[in-house]
Amino acid sequence: MANDKKKILKPLATGDKTIPPEGAKMIPIYIMGREYTVPETLTIMKAVEYAGYSYVRGCGCRGGICGACGTFYRFLGDYRLKSGLACQTVAEANMVIMQLPFFPANRPGYDLENFSGTPHEELRSLYPEVFKCVGCGTCTRTCPMDIDVMDYIALMKRGDLKGAALKSFDCVMCGLCASRCPAQISQYMAAMFVRRVYGRYLLPKAGHLEKRVEDVKSGKYEKMLKELNAMKQEDVKKLYVEREREPDMAESGKWMPKDTTHL
Ligand code: SF4
Ligand code: SF4
Ligand code: FES
Repeated sequence: MANDKKKILKPLATGDKTIPPEGAKMIPIYIMGREYTVPETLTIMKAVEYAGYSYVRGCGCRGGICGACGTFYRFLGDYRLKSGLACQTVAEANMVIMQLPFFPANRPGYDLENFSGTPHEELRSLYPEVFKCVGCGTCTRTCPMDIDVMDYIALMKRGDLKGAALKSFDCVMCGLCASRCPAQISQYMAAMFVRRVYGRYLLPKAGHLEKRVEDVKSGKYEKMLKELNAMKQEDVKKLYVEREREPDMAESGKWMPKDTTHL
């Protein structure tokens, strides 16, 4: 069982470079059921590493983007199950932690260019479970990105694919919502399908992107790529470091490099 006594700071880290602040309070946490003592202020991910584990799966960007580090936890004595991203959630005393780096989802194959009916009918055929949502809201409460998952599922059911695509845009594909759904819906996979449909059929085409794709297809950049490939690595690095960069505060769409020969 945990106790709140201040424990002696004992470096346990193996690969982790985390250096706890001097005099940092040590807190007990439980990783896969085993107690460890770690400095407070660490994220769950760093606390796990501090405890001596090395990540092979379940860790990617460390910045809340890739969704590889979905995690469930409870506090001792609290019945409520909580969720978060291990790289973004700060470890607290008496957390009982289990990471869920992967969850099996319904991933049917499809061809965006060949639907047998409307996109909404295709959604129904690929993900029929979406239409069995019971509106419990568990997915929304579970989502570490604070996305109203239940609402985007409701939009899908109504055929508002644009609304569902926009509402699910911040999804990091961690899969935590699907792991708790009583209707066995793989919400994030259905949402990915909807965003693909939105990008392919509903979003107006970006003129500048279309032009650039045409440029690439026409072979405009082949010569430049060959020249780059022939360069020494250090020369490529120098070129990269010395490249003209858009200023951070430049007005959107206004900045152009002085040298436009490569555009
Ligand atoms: S919608 Fe689901 S998969 Fe996407 S971030 Fe939220 S919990 Fe993770
Ligand atoms: S957890 Fe499943 S059933 Fe409950 S609201 Fe979300 S999608 Fe619907
Ligand atoms: S490691 Fe990528 S979101 Fe946590």
